[in-house]
Amino acid sequence: MTMAPETPALIDPFARAISYLRVSVTDRCDFRCTYCMAEHMTFLPKADLLTLEELDRLCSAFVRMGVEKLRVTGGEPLVRRGIMTFFRAMSRHLGTGALRELTLTTNGSQLTRHAEELAECGVRRVNVSLDTLDPDKFARVTRWGRLPQVLDGIRAARAAGLRVKINTVALRGFNEDELFRLVDWCGSEGHDLTFIEVMPMGEMGEDLRLDQYWSLEDLRTRLSERFSLIELADRTGGPARYVRLAQTGQRIGFITPLSHNFCESCNRVRLTCTGELFMCLGQEDRADLRAPLRRSSEDAVLEEAIRAAVSRKPRGHDFDYSRRAVSGQMSRHMSHTGG
Ligand code: 5AD
Ligand code: SF4
Repeated sequence: MTMAPETPALIDPFARAISYLRVSVTDRCDFRCTYCMAEHMTFLPKADLLTLEELDRLCSAFVRMGVEKLRVTGGEPLVRRGIMTFFRAMSRHLGTGALRELTLTTNGSQLTRHAEELAECGVRRVNVSLDTLDPDKFARVTRWGRLPQVLDGIRAARAAGLRVKINTVALRGFNEDELFRLVDWCGSEGHDLTFIEVMPMGEMGEDLRLDQYWSLEDLRTRLSERFSLIELADRTGGPARYVRLAQTGQRIGFITPLSHNFCESCNRVRLTCTGELFMCLGQEDRADLRAPLRRSSEDAVLEEAIRAAVSRKPRGHDFDYSRRAVSGQMSRHMSHTGG
């Protein structure tokens, strides 16, 4: 991509180019997954949220500054009213070639309604969170979700030509027994599959997270009892690592957000639905971009604020799970920062 000279690329103090923006468009969700939200959540007042126009302006500024991949998250992004207007707006950057990928992370509940239009907007892949294929367990872990609705959504996505990646949070005593069922199902349906290690986010009353911690190292060992795992070199600048199952050819991802092994290649920043920019998932430091956004219609002011924020991006994060205590636990929920 050729960059206009007046908008030099975003480079952080450790010479990492910021090419990937994750943007949370709402803190709301139609599910209440036990590891993610309390059952009775207080959501942000609407006035605090960036409007769709503000989201457009902000994301477009990032694209001008070299962001090539945009992932829309939440909460559940597809419950935000008018969200397709935002996808339409972002699709123009795919049209110019400035943006290479527009994608989203969803719980799948609204995909039957939106898959077709997402595909029209140039979305080619969706990540769908799915922790179990058992309807009762699904209802238990999501509290408000229903499995058939999500499976219909996944089918609609595929029918619209979207590739589907299933994201499964590994939970001890919950989906341990479904490891092979999930792998087999994804294999036969043609979905990619990534396991995510549960993270100490939020401050829920339930002590689910530490109790249900299932290390991906252990999960891998279990996987290797049935399959030969071929280590792949594929890196995306994030915490995912991949293996190929020799017997089926499937590529399986592992996201261990608490490890430090990916910080040196980190290419991403996260924008919350209120316009705070988190430079690192594991650090509290953030920059308010809403104020400069609302203070001035000058894009130069906004770009300056973005640049100042990125100049504070830390080398790495501070999670410490090894102590198995709440130290290092993040006080914010994933639904606020975006998964
Ligand atoms: N640990 C790991 N993953 C989480 N997610 C939400 N909360 C947590 C947590 N505590 C995941 C969801 C989804 C994405 C939005 O973030 O399962 O895949
Ligand atoms: Fe909603 Fe995803 Fe959180 Fe579940 S994990 S409550 S689907 S945002």
